[in-house]
Amino acid sequence: MTNPVQHLYVHLPFCAQRCGYCDFVTVVGRRGQHAAHVDGLLAELELERAVLAPELETLFLGGGTPTFTEPAELERLLATLPPAAEVTVEANPETVTPALAALLRRNGVNRVSLGVQTFQPDLLRVLDRVAGPDDVRRAFYHLRDAGFDNISLDLIYGIPGQGPAELETDIKEALALRPEHLSCYELEAKPGTRFAHVHGEELRRQAVAMEGYFEAVVETLVGAGYRWYETANFCLPADADGRDLRSRHNLAYWRGRDYVGLGIGAVSTVRGQRWRTTPRLGPYLAALRAGRPPLRELEPLADSVRREERVMLGLRLDEPLEVATVAASVDPDALARVQRLGLAELLPLEPGRAGEALTLTRRGRLLGDAVTADLLA
Ligand SMILES: C[S@@+](CC[C@H](N)C(=O)[O-])C[C@H]1O[C@@H](n2cnc3c(N)ncnc32)[C@H](O)[C@@H]1O
Ligand code: SF4
Repeated sequence: MTNPVQHLYVHLPFCAQRCGYCDFVTVVGRRGQHAAHVDGLLAELELERAVLAPELETLFLGGGTPTFTEPAELERLLATLPPAAEVTVEANPETVTPALAALLRRNGVNRVSLGVQTFQPDLLRVLDRVAGPDDVRRAFYHLRDAGFDNISLDLIYGIPGQGPAELETDIKEALALRPEHLSCYELEAKPGTRFAHVHGEELRRQAVAMEGYFEAVVETLVGAGYRWYETANFCLPADADGRDLRSRHNLAYWRGRDYVGLGIGAVSTVRGQRWRTTPRLGPYLAALRAGRPPLRELEPLADSVRREERVMLGLRLDEPLEVATVAASVDPDALARVQRLGLAELLPLEPGRAGEALTLTRRGRLLGDAVTADLLA
């Protein structure tokens, strides 16, 4: 029998309001629909049960704003989903109360990812964020008080109006909380959106500064003792108990493992097939109410596509990638060139195993996807 899938993503699309820069599948408000939505997710879970392990390695509730879900419905969902070794919930700071933190805790959540973005009130306004810097700190301490010892903060850089000094302050404020994990993303503004139109000129100015911001983020966080384990992700080194603080769920994506995604717009990759569920809430719920799977866009995955993804995602990590598994997709001339330029290196595999592993150097990682794209045959 094929190995059961160990990783489950659940999409909770509801948000209090829509932030101008956001391109995720979201639905504003609709408190009256939260119960029906949880019914839909649980019905979809039943359709996928057969491929899922009864006990998972990771469960990730993302959004949207999972913590905007009606508390009784969020609790019903968490109590019914399969147990997992790592259970992460994304939270917006203004939604985190002591009661919410306790609800998460008693339902097996052991990791919270808090969407901070920036600590500067004027930049938060540019992003249409509801939470202010004090809400972030309050949320963080409510989570700590409830017993959470694995908290991640999301920051964004390249925000219109931001400069190197503001970014430095943001990182300092984040570090003052000493989170176990930090994700630092370059702001992406989708062309054609109102946000891109309103901030066009300033976004072009920020694009020029992006490389410098990225380098400053890496330098400061590594200097503060964090492990730069993925292009945009940092964690404290293993603690005294040997606890690995990388996101196990995201590591599974980056390592090309299979995962099931439930909910509107969610993507699944299972046994060589990939599908994306309809992003439309009405048809999604109607299908599941009628006992049918929701509409899904199917994408058969050729071996070559999987290999290319392994290179693109695997080289974002600070762990070497076994060459034999991706050799057919790597251009040997390009590899020799990036090695000569000091952007990548080949290392022997661990003792007892023949073969080589590929890794980007620090400079190669700072140049990022451009180097990786160059390597693809
Ligand atoms: C799926 S979002 C949802 C998180 C949560 N609703 C929030 O807003 O805090 C997860 C993270 O993606 C990042 N993100 C969202 N839109 C982005 C964009 N356009 N560019 C860069 N990062 C973005 C933010 O840091 C955000 O916290
Ligand atoms: S709260 Fe998060 S998911 Fe919702 S619109 Fe804002 S960034 Fe997007």
